[in-house]
Amino acid sequence: MQHQRVLILDFGGQYNQLIARRVRELNVFCDLVPSDISLKEIERYAPIGIIFTGGPNSVYDENSPKIDRGVFELGIPVLGICYGCQLMAYMLGGSVERATTSEYGKVEVSYRSSLLTVDMPASAVCWMSHTDRITRLPAGFKMLAESNNCPYAAFGDEKKKLYGVQFHPEVNHTFKGSVILKNFLYNVCGAAGDWTMSNFVASQIASLRERIGDKKVLCAMSGGVDSAVAATLIHRAVGDQLTCVFVDHGLLRKYEAEEVMSVFRDGLGMNLIKADDGEIFLGKLAGVTEPEQKRKIIGEQFIRSFEKQAKAIGKVDFLVQGTIYPDVIESGKGKSAVIKSHHNVGGLPSVVDFKEIIEPLRDLFKDEVRKVGFELGLPKNVVMRQPFPGPGLAIRIMGEVTREKLETLRDSDYILRDEIAKAGLDDKIWQYFTVITNSKTVGVQGDFRTYENVVAIRAVTSLDAMTADWARIPYDVLEKISTRIVNEVKRVNRIVYDITSKPPATIEWE
Ligand code: XMP
Repeated sequence: MQHQRVLILDFGGQYNQLIARRVRELNVFCDLVPSDISLKEIERYAPIGIIFTGGPNSVYDENSPKIDRGVFELGIPVLGICYGCQLMAYMLGGSVERATTSEYGKVEVSYRSSLLTVDMPASAVCWMSHTDRITRLPAGFKMLAESNNCPYAAFGDEKKKLYGVQFHPEVNHTFKGSVILKNFLYNVCGAAGDWTMSNFVASQIASLRERIGDKKVLCAMSGGVDSAVAATLIHRAVGDQLTCVFVDHGLLRKYEAEEVMSVFRDGLGMNLIKADDGEIFLGKLAGVTEPEQKRKIIGEQFIRSFEKQAKAIGKVDFLVQGTIYPDVIESGKGKSAVIKSHHNVGGLPSVVDFKEIIEPLRDLFKDEVRKVGFELGLPKNVVMRQPFPGPGLAIRIMGEVTREKLETLRDSDYILRDEIAKAGLDDKIWQYFTVITNSKTVGVQGDFRTYENVVAIRAVTSLDAMTADWARIPYDVLEKISTRIVNEVKRVNRIVYDITSKPPATIEWE
């Protein structure tokens, strides 16, 4: 079944992925595409509605992104947000002026009644972020909201189904912002709300069955949410035709490898092969202290380990990749500076003998992947698993990775996770883990002097790991964690708490 689709044209604003996520949360499928898409491609996509995002430009900038005027003649409803609404007003003959002061932050607007503003209060707070403003509407348009500084905070031509909002309905600071998006989707575009995760699972299983037929599929399972959900979907579709390989590099958290085997092999009955290569990885890491070198060694050995298993399995037809929608969007953009060389299974295709790549999650945002995971009956500890770096605990041990340090790190990390869960904070903190610093300090235990490791606690809140803030864990929870670690874990006599945000620090220590 083909679901209805909304097309979001990306004019470069910072909240653009958020708009797409909000639309999806309202059960309407959408795609975010660069704004230079041609009119023909728009028509071919056949959206039920089009949204123009915000962007950093002024419509008067020489190189500011524009759009083919024909988009307004297609009879498809359009909602312009921020820059998108200015562009709409400008291109249809209204006036946009450079204001001397910007309007930024929470602003009170009063709404008029219209299809776009159904269920909105007479006045409410919204989130503004603009310099230019619209001073005259194009012919046929009506004002639908105003603020002190902004005579046309929202406007629309109900006949042509063209609407604009100067503020950001996708941001939480806009009171009932998603009601505005919902009104656009349902009242203006006539959405049916056919994008649900149970529909997705049903249609994806049917199409995977058709595509795979009786052929063989191979999947690298990391224990992470994406590979777990991708593998489970495929397993539902074709059962034993799928073989998963799980490389245990000996750098996982306490009990993690056992959990993966118990959920997927014992619980779901998956054909899951575990490569127990911890000794090989540790051997290659011996004496290595430089972070980038550690990453490279682990990345390369990971491929070798996978390759060895894949060779034993023989030729397969499909290789599964856990690509998700943000990767698809990002890959269209320019590359930024490499801060850390991330090791992912992305390097696999060239070394494995397969015919095609299969990416069952490439249309989904992370929160949708999690919903699909629950829909498939996966347990919470798998679906809500916090992000975990490919090189594992090796980049949480400063300096050389040794068996002793791994044991200390695993035990301290286990206590941290236990106490965070007991305090009910596990859903609120993006990532939390312990780090073994490269320092030893003097302590006193019983009547004896000790000279042991300093363990750091790292806990951050974040939306997407691009930026992060240190989590404000209550002192009494920190106290419990600290007391338990120094008492229960060998070779630790001091705990410190990392209170740096990203930037300037990164989330991981290496
Ligand atoms: P940083 O430390 O750069 O991390 O702030 C951002 C996010 O990425 C994770 N991370 C990795 N993930 N392979 C991965 O798959 C890696 O090599 C890697 N290094 C960092 C990190 O845990 C955080 O969520």
